Amino acid sequence: MSASKIIAPPYRNYYRQRTANQWRKIPAERGDPSAIRPFLAGNWKMNLIPRAGVALAARIFDLCRDIKDVDMGFAPPFTGLSTLADYIEPDFLRREYGIGRNVFLLAQDTFFESKGAFTGEISADMLAAIGVDRVIVGHSDRRANLGKYFGFSSSVARRLSKNFLTHTFTQLKSREQQLHPQVFAAIEHLLDEQNSDVLAGLATFLETELNERAGESDDAIQRKVQAALANGVQVIFCCGENKEARRAHETFNLLERQIRMGLEGVARHTMSEVIIAYEPIWAIGEGAQPAPLEQIAEVHDFIRNLLMDLYGEQIAARVRILYGGNVKPDNIAAMMQLAGVDGALVGGASLNAADFAKIIRFGLPDAV
Ligand code: PGA
Repeated sequence: MSASKIIAPPYRNYYRQRTANQWRKIPAERGDPSAIRPFLAGNWKMNLIPRAGVALAARIFDLCRDIKDVDMGFAPPFTGLSTLADYIEPDFLRREYGIGRNVFLLAQDTFFESKGAFTGEISADMLAAIGVDRVIVGHSDRRANLGKYFGFSSSVARRLSKNFLTHTFTQLKSREQQLHPQVFAAIEHLLDEQNSDVLAGLATFLETELNERAGESDDAIQRKVQAALANGVQVIFCCGENKEARRAHETFNLLERQIRMGLEGVARHTMSEVIIAYEPIWAIGEGAQPAPLEQIAEVHDFIRNLLMDLYGEQIAARVRILYGGNVKPDNIAAMMQLAGVDGALVGGASLNAADFAKIIRFGLPDAV
């Protein structure tokens, strides 16, 4: 029987056990300090000016006054971090809303170098200095979509046009610049009239490939994870397949590569600072459907078993693995029933106070 068929209430706090090759949640007293606490994180992406972010958070806290048994995280854009950091100061939250230290400030990204000529980037120690608790690393908006936004693909395709190559070729020749002879030979070859179809095909191929793939590499993501942890900023590490990989039955291979590379060098004792978010790209955003429960259960089990290989059973049992991709008030409880799911990374629904509060309150009645 697959894990998703086990119907249990969506426990708010629990331990996790592995018996007969299956992971199970064992319910714990609400608020038990040694139990696993679900993590409900809102990724605001590029939305909300700072005071609008504070207003949203205030409405959510108001609807979650009695909630102390799960962790909640808010990821405003960089410009909103300081203002929100001020607002969620623990003593203030306790006085005003009665909630404890279960509210965390998240950043959406970081850079791996600590300082220098990296215009526009923000380092992990800068995040730490303004009170960021945790940073999202490897979100698919950055892994997969940057190529589209920044137009790498069309600028490469333009370089593979006849005009561009002819011009470059003459320039290079006249300058007698030292260029690898193979590069000269390749350009000359592509310029040959007989090969114009090859040139056009190559341009189209590279344009499509880069459109799909140019973004943050596993290598860059690994460095970001390291930089964050080294600066005392915890991590939400995102992974997930696109629809082509799912169709080609490559999901597990791809996730294994993303996780092994992303977490390489993260020591056993540091894994308590890492949360993993499984976010299938095809399930993210408006118009898409969340992944079916069966698939979420299957992938979360796969990831947890991989963590067991890498870090042993005890650590694998405790690492929180979130699901992301169209999490809404009406599907969160069913997701939290799955033995492998420890929370959610929420995009669209986290921008609506009533919706995100319902997600945080999963399995409990709405606030009165
Ligand atoms: P979504 O986004 O909830 O709007 O699908 C999830 C995410 O990208 O983290």
